[in-house]
Amino acid sequence: MSDIILGIESSCDDTSAAIIRDGVLLSNVIASQDVHKAYGGVIPELASRAHQQNIVPVVSEAIHRAGISKEDITAIAFTRGPGLLGSLLVGTSFAKTLAISLNVPLIEVNHLQGHILANFVKQPDKDVPMPSFPYLCLLVSGGNSQIVRVDDPLHYEILGRTIDDAVGEAFDKCSKMMGLGYPGGPIIDRLAKEGDPERFKFSKPHIPGLDYSFSGIKTSLLYFVRDQLALNPNFLEENKADICASFQKALIDILMDKLIKAVKQTGITQVTAGGGVSANSGLRSRLTEEGLKRGWKVYLPEFKFTTDNAAMIAIAGYYHYLNGERTSLDVAPLSRMEAFAK
Ligand code: KG4
Repeated sequence: MSDIILGIESSCDDTSAAIIRDGVLLSNVIASQDVHKAYGGVIPELASRAHQQNIVPVVSEAIHRAGISKEDITAIAFTRGPGLLGSLLVGTSFAKTLAISLNVPLIEVNHLQGHILANFVKQPDKDVPMPSFPYLCLLVSGGNSQIVRVDDPLHYEILGRTIDDAVGEAFDKCSKMMGLGYPGGPIIDRLAKEGDPERFKFSKPHIPGLDYSFSGIKTSLLYFVRDQLALNPNFLEENKADICASFQKALIDILMDKLIKAVKQTGITQVTAGGGVSANSGLRSRLTEEGLKRGWKVYLPEFKFTTDNAAMIAIAGYYHYLNGERTSLDVAPLSRMEAFAK
């Protein structure tokens, strides 16, 4: 008999549901929330309300597109955290209720583990190359910037993490301050393609070990733009592409310096990336280039699996399911990473 897992993701501002059968993706539906655009960032209360509106249609659509009926579901995997508490509460409550009504097991998933395992979502009629273990994952999103050593689907160790802002946050906040829009990552990525990455220089942080910091470079960009605008009110408009290209290059340099260090320290040369910032075209090219230059094997997730999606939650849940793990129905969501035992 096949194992059919329904995955539910609601940690931030995307409501998503996916169905996988024996590890193969049958459907992956994502409802993004445009309501936050007007505010230049995610408003938690509005996110929770939008999840409440979206969750039933999104799950129904995922079941429909997969060509199954809800009674075929073997287990329900859901994001327990980390993320926005109100958003997580919607997905968690819905998953529990459906698990009770279908009388199937519930499986909690750490959102970050989902990003780490995004490369393992198999697709019908598509041969996707997958890393073997161990490998290093550069996990870069709006809330996290980490280098993770992955020893098997269920065991991993965080080797380095940001001590302040996440890299996605640096993209988003700087874009907002420059009046470019939200979310900043894709906007800066697009503008950077037309600019000169060597035109402006930003100082790099000096953080020991494998930890990151993005707060200083964010502030240095903002002061730089402010000072230039005092001299020339059109500075931003005239130099937008070069600013974005130079800023993006500086962020990528910071990410890559520590990743190179992590490969040297661990001797692990298989590298993946995950999280929304792994959609960045500059970062993807740089990972590929460094891989060729340094003899790494680089695996990049498809674009649709880089940002928040339930396919990655379903695959992570599938591994927990195979391992015999089940979650109690009195489970509560966790907003912070540290709250997870592993
Ligand atoms: O993983 P994700 O969807 O949500 C979490 O934070 O969990 O990541 C969202 C982040 C945002 O900061 C967004 O600006 C960034 O990913 N992002 C990008 C790109 N696409 C999304 N950053 C740089 N370049 C992109 N192309």
